[in-house]
Amino acid sequence: MEAQFCCCEMFLCVLGLLALWFLFRWYRELATVPNKEDKYVYITGCDSGFGKLLAKHLDKLGFRVIAACYTEKGEDELKKVSSDRLNTVHLDVVSTHSVDKATAFIKSLVGEKGLWALVNNAGISVPSGPCDWMTIEDYKPMLDVNLGGLIAVTLSVLPLIKKARGRVVNVASVFGRLSAFGGPYCVSKFGVEAFNDSLRMNMTAFGVKVLCIEPGFFKTSVTDINLLRLNILTLWNKQPEEIKEQYGDDYPERANAMLKKNVLNWLDADLMKVVNCMTHAISAVHPRTRYSPGWDAKFVWLPLSYMPSWLSDKVLIPKVAQPKVAVH
Ligand SMILES: NC(=O)c1ccc[n+]([C@@H]2O[C@H](COP(=O)([O-])OP(=O)(O)OC[C@H]3O[C@@H](n4cnc5c(N)ncnc54)[C@H](OP(=O)(O)O)[C@@H]3O)[C@@H](O)[C@H]2O)c1
Repeated sequence: MEAQFCCCEMFLCVLGLLALWFLFRWYRELATVPNKEDKYVYITGCDSGFGKLLAKHLDKLGFRVIAACYTEKGEDELKKVSSDRLNTVHLDVVSTHSVDKATAFIKSLVGEKGLWALVNNAGISVPSGPCDWMTIEDYKPMLDVNLGGLIAVTLSVLPLIKKARGRVVNVASVFGRLSAFGGPYCVSKFGVEAFNDSLRMNMTAFGVKVLCIEPGFFKTSVTDINLLRLNILTLWNKQPEEIKEQYGDDYPERANAMLKKNVLNWLDADLMKVVNCMTHAISAVHPRTRYSPGWDAKFVWLPLSYMPSWLSDKVLIPKVAQPKVAVH
């Protein structure tokens, strides 16, 4: 009876300490940096999705936003709905000329103050599919955008960020923590995580903070079901007969059905969950090292990433369509 009482007391004590810790963390994270109107924030990939929403949100909060868009249409649309504090700039992250031109523009804008924050958001999600469907040429374009482009943009403005003792916010993914499907996407996001971590350690001495956003599934262009379906069909049509025989003629339909069941049903339409994390990373005095917006990220993908591989494989393999010749 006494032992049971002791256990109960211990449990309540741990619960109390946990509650205190969360309360302390919540309070500590409330403080925001002063003088937002003097702080320049450079965001890549502002044509749509998280980038566009973040640009509009930070503009409303009073930051000086430099929204980099891939298209002229993206720039025009943003200008129409924002204050004249917001600047747009054309940026293709894989073109050295474009990256340098954008950096020169930013340098002329920020002057001696430097750049307060860079948000590396631009990214693409196709081609994605089984690894044995791919050639190295299928991997390269996505690695160039999601990883090479992110590194190139960061290094080009890093001196300006050091000047401001500012921040780099890298948009990775839960699939930078857990590789759940084939192709270059997870490879690129694991790379982003690695670059993020080494940069964070290297920049501590300069007072520069490096923060990582790892969203779950959200409803944007990169998770558009039509884009993903077309991606499967395009890859399938390029496959040799040997692969088609191994996977079975009905593979594209089976893959689409799995996609609908396991991706479409998970999509969260509330993009503000991600934008609020990005905003906190930019504006909080004490930002978090990592943010995992989305219930699926918090309660499925991240816990699964800590599990032993045999267990995560058991969960993940049945979630994608299997080849006809699968050995069980
Ligand atoms: N949505 C999700 O579920 C999810 C989950 C985890 C991580 N993420 C990551 O979140 C980031 C933003 O994606 P999103 O979901 O908001 O999708 P999105 O709406 O497609 O945003 C991606 C942006 O990147 C731009 N972009 C593509 N190629 C570029 C290039 N070469 N140079 C410069 N910009 C380029 C796109 O321009 P165009 O629109 O003109 O092509 C678009 O504005 C990506 O890094 C993505 O991997 C998304």
